[in-house]
Amino acid sequence: MLQREVASFEIRDLGGALGAEIIGLDLASPLDGPTRSAIRDAFLEHQILAIRDQDLDIEAQVAFSLQFGPLERHVISNRNAPHPLVHIVTNLDADGRPSGSLQSTTWHSDKSFRPEPSMATILHARQLPPAGGETCFADMYGAYDSLPAETRAEIDDLRVVHSYALGRARMGVSVSEAERRDAPDTIHPLARIHPDTGRRALFMGDHAHHIEGWQVETGRALIERLQAHATQECFVYRHEWRPGDVLMWDNRCLLHRVEQNFDAARHARVLHRTCLRGTAPA
Ligand SMILES: [Fe+2]
Repeated sequence: MLQREVASFEIRDLGGALGAEIIGLDLASPLDGPTRSAIRDAFLEHQILAIRDQDLDIEAQVAFSLQFGPLERHVISNRNAPHPLVHIVTNLDADGRPSGSLQSTTWHSDKSFRPEPSMATILHARQLPPAGGETCFADMYGAYDSLPAETRAEIDDLRVVHSYALGRARMGVSVSEAERRDAPDTIHPLARIHPDTGRRALFMGDHAHHIEGWQVETGRALIERLQAHATQECFVYRHEWRPGDVLMWDNRCLLHRVEQNFDAARHARVLHRTCLRGTAPA
């Protein structure tokens, strides 16, 4: 019985070190236990799952997501979204026209500035440009494992100050006092241990600002050096979106960013995002 149910859909490698696609599954209906287990196992093994050919409205996406754990709220600037647990990733302005601006184009791990950052992000493509706008992922297990042993020993006990406000400031964006209060700075290990796989992974990105107890500039230099190492092409998978894709990825062992390689003033790119709540990194 279990084999028959699991065999009703297919999980295929996407060809590189990262990622698998799932074909033949309908996420609009509740998943049975074996299917949920198979998805969870594939998620831990491949870090990114592309579940093809879905058409989920916001409620259905929330229902699918909740089968893998509790969802988290978004930052205060998302409060006008149509559902408190869904973030609309969009380049459309208030009148529904492409605005020309794209967000999340630099490497980050979602909500790393929270005491309990997102475990997983689930993103469902609703409108896509004719080409481009890929989401790129960098493998933080591979990046950690490939460091020289002496570097790993040096960084294993370091802790990083993650700051929404300082991260935005570095990009030239100011945050309101309310946003600052909503997302105070927090501290996480630089090389976290994944709670499900036990593997170490570098944990940094846009919100990783400096090293606890170090001079800010010295810490920034180390973070930038490690991030340059971790985002080399050999660690990166580029997801070329197809209509209907639901992408589910593990923020605990990946960085991601959007490729700004299409005309965002001309073409819409709209995706619906839910985030599964994580635990404090250790
Ligand atoms: Fe993101």
